[in-house]
Parts: sequence; structure tokens; C-alpha cells
Amino acid sequence: MKKLRTPIVAVLGHVDHGKTTLLDKIRNTRVIAKEAGGITQHIGATEVPIELIKEICKDLWPKNITIPGLLFIDTPGHKAFTNLRKRGGALADLAILVVDVNEGFKPQTEEALMILRTFKTPFVVAANKIDKIPGWQSFENQPFLKSFQQQDDVVKQRLENKIYDLIGELYKYGFSADRFDRIRDFTRTVAIVPVSALTGEGIPELLLVLVGLAQRYLEKNLRLHVEGKAKGTVLEVKEEKGLGMTMDVIIYDGTLRVGDKIAIGGVNGVVVTHVRGILKPRPAQEIRVESKFKSVKEVTAAAGVKIVAPGIENVVAGSEFEVVESEEDVKKFEERIRKEIEEVTIKTDEEGVVLKTDTLGSLEALVNELKEAGIPIKKAEVGDIDKRDVVEAAANRDEINRLVIGFNVKVLPGVEEEAARYGVRIFLDNIIYSLLDNVTSWREEQKR
Ligand code: GTP
Ligand code: NA
Ligand code: MG
Repeated sequence: MKKLRTPIVAVLGHVDHGKTTLLDKIRNTRVIAKEAGGITQHIGATEVPIELIKEICKDLWPKNITIPGLLFIDTPGHKAFTNLRKRGGALADLAILVVDVNEGFKPQTEEALMILRTFKTPFVVAANKIDKIPGWQSFENQPFLKSFQQQDDVVKQRLENKIYDLIGELYKYGFSADRFDRIRDFTRTVAIVPVSALTGEGIPELLLVLVGLAQRYLEKNLRLHVEGKAKGTVLEVKEEKGLGMTMDVIIYDGTLRVGDKIAIGGVNGVVVTHVRGILKPRPAQEIRVESKFKSVKEVTAAAGVKIVAPGIENVVAGSEFEVVESEEDVKKFEERIRKEIEEVTIKTDEEGVVLKTDTLGSLEALVNELKEAGIPIKKAEVGDIDKRDVVEAAANRDEINRLVIGFNVKVLPGVEEEAARYGVRIFLDNIIYSLLDNVTSWREEQKR
């Protein structure tokens, strides 16, 4: 039998509609409790073995399932993360679009849908939070149909009405959709599975539909290699005690081995290095919060792993990488990356604030947000806040532009003092809402 690569499943949807909670329920984890403000800031990854999915589905489990598991990608729902989510969308073979059934479609739901349509990604809709429908009686971890049967008629009708609303919204985007149990051909009709990420109701059927889609779409997809040169995307770069510089990555193609030479593309040009170590999170553990990694010699797509490699200090999240064997490989890679970066080059104003962020994705996102708010930007870069940033901000003519705005970055030693001396204000936050809020209200106050 042909070996199938683990399908990559992106979990998309509006902020707080329940993406992380849904994954927590499937993995039996509590990742959401470790997030600042309960808001997902970075893309995360979790490999869920097929046995675990089978356990959740119990006697509903079909025969002939050969995929080794699913690699789930959790994404931030805030609209400022368009760019990261796009990568999530493009990276993914399949998706779950999470919609709070009580709230219906929201701007980020629609944005996610456009991304799915653009990339022609097969997806299933999780109509979440059914436990919040007035009168709903919860039956923990039960299949939806079992739980639904036991509801009062008026409650049943309430849910039906909400499902019809979703069907209508999907139709606007050219998708025909229906409740999953009324669908004959899952390749033509988008399945809506009512679930509660909190009580677990409906999750067996959600996973069944997903596994069915994965099996059907991936069996015939010849692009899904597990052999050959590894290709991947960087989720996050960080220093780890006792390891040095590491990066969390998704490997979406091929096999990566310790000792492999890799080229990584980023804002500061292409970095060529070698893989010193590969660390795997335990099964069903989110790489963003995992503490017990296992050291392995090689890893096969798709996987979320931590790579130990020298010289990656300037690599930023969102960068792509691949295994290179020759100088020519490196050249080809460089050319492709250069074109990609040109697309996201940030054009800046002569007078304006200084923006520093942790990743290319958050940089792009915040630039968009600031522009929308009518705030000019003088300089926008990935990195910690240093003295040069303060000097640049201080050179502004208008006082309200003498700002350094930092998202998820540090202020280097001595910089606060420098800022005070120059009359420059530093705004720092790791929640995008409050950062923008604080900046705009401060500017409003100054104008009065
Ligand atoms: P972002 O990552 O910030 O975009 O949000 P998210 O989509 O990951 O949502 P999250 O999992 O953070 O959930 C948001 C809130 O909704 C939390 O308070 C959850 O406890 C709650 N929640 C999620 N799913 C359910 C559900 O099925 N029922 C109920 N009652 N609450 C839910
Ligand atoms: Na949230
Ligand atoms: Mg989340």
C-alpha cells in the first residue's frame, strides 16, 4: 500500500468562535488557558494520531481509513493576521471553518471563506457553541444526532433556523451546503456539522466528515510526498535554554534529517545553515506550549517540529525553507524568495511612527491596521526596540508621531531612558486590539 502523508488541516474562523477550544477538546489539552487574553497570537501545530481520532468517533468509525493522522494548524482569528492565515490556508490540504452558530458569519469568517475559495481547499463547517442555544440540553461527548434527537422541538427548530442562515451565507459565496447528515456527495456539498467545543457534542461526526474528506482527497493527490527534499514554513524562532537558537516549523513536503543543509528565506536575505537537531512534540501536544520534546534523527511530512540550527537569529516567522544540496539549489531558492519579499515590502512615509514587531506576518498586519486608522508610518521592521528607533521617532515634526509601537517585542536596555530624554513614547503590547486602542486614544487626546 502507498504511504500517505499526514494531511494538514487549518482551523480558521472569526476571533473567539472557538478554534482553540475545539482543538483542546480533540487533544484533551488546555492550550487556551496559556494564551494572553485567551487570544491566539501565533499559528500553532498539533499532530493528532489516527488512534485518538478513532477513539473519539467510537462505533461510528468507518473501514478503510489509512491516513496516519491529522496535523492541525491553529490560527489567530483577529483580522490583523490576514497574512499568517493566508499562509495557513495555503499550507493546508483541508480546513475546518469554525462559526459560532449563535453569531453567524462575521468579517473574519468571510475572509477565511475567500481564502478557502482562492486555494480551492476542501473544508467542513463546524457550527460551534450549540450548547448556548436557548433550551439546549447537553449530552457530553455524544454524537450530534444522538443529542439532537433528545432536544425539545422548539430547540430543534432554533438550531435548524441557524443552520439555514449558514447555508444562505455559504450560498452567497457560491458554495452549496447542508447539514452533514443530509448530504450524499461530500465532494459537491459543504458539510455543516453542529458541535460544541465545550461539551464535545458533535465532535465525533465533525472528525468523521474530516477524515472522510482527507482520505478521499488525499488518496488521489500525487503531490503529497513523504520522500524527497524537505520543504517547510517557519512558525516561530526562539532561543531555548541549553539548545541555543531554535525554530518551530511545519514540514509540508519530503523528509528532513539531522545534518541536512537548509536554506531559509526571510526579510534579511537567505540564510544557509544545517540542521543540528530535530525535536518532536508528543502526539496531540501543541508545539506552541509543549515542554517535553523527543529528539529524532529524521521526520516526514507533514509534521510540526522544533529545529535546532546555528545562525538563525535573524530568521523571522513566516519564512520558508527547504533542503539544499548544491550552490545552484541555493541560487534558485534565493530568486524565488526575493520575489516573494518584494510583494510585502513596506512602503513608508517621511513623517510617522516607528513600528517594531516579532514576525513578518504581524508587521504586515499592523501596517495595514495603522494605515486604516490614518496613522503614518516612518519605519516598520521586525525586531526589538533599540536606540535608533527612538532617534528616528524623535526626528518627527509632529509630536503625535513621536511614537515607537512594539508588538510582541522587547525594549533593549537603556532605551527607555533615551526615549524619556527625547520625549518619545513607547507603546508595547502582545494583544493587537489593546495596542491599537492605546495608540489611537493617546493620539486623540493629544489632538484636543
Ligand atoms: P482566537 O484564537 O482568539 O481567534 O479565538 P478562538 O476561535 O480560538 O476561540 P477560543 O477557543 O479562544 O474561544 C473563545 C471563547 O469561547 C472561550 O471563552 C471559550 O471557552 C468559548 N467557547 C468556545 N467554544 C465554545 C462552545 O462550544 N460553547 C461555549 N459555551 N463556549 C465556547
Ligand atoms: Na480566543
Ligand atoms: Mg484561538
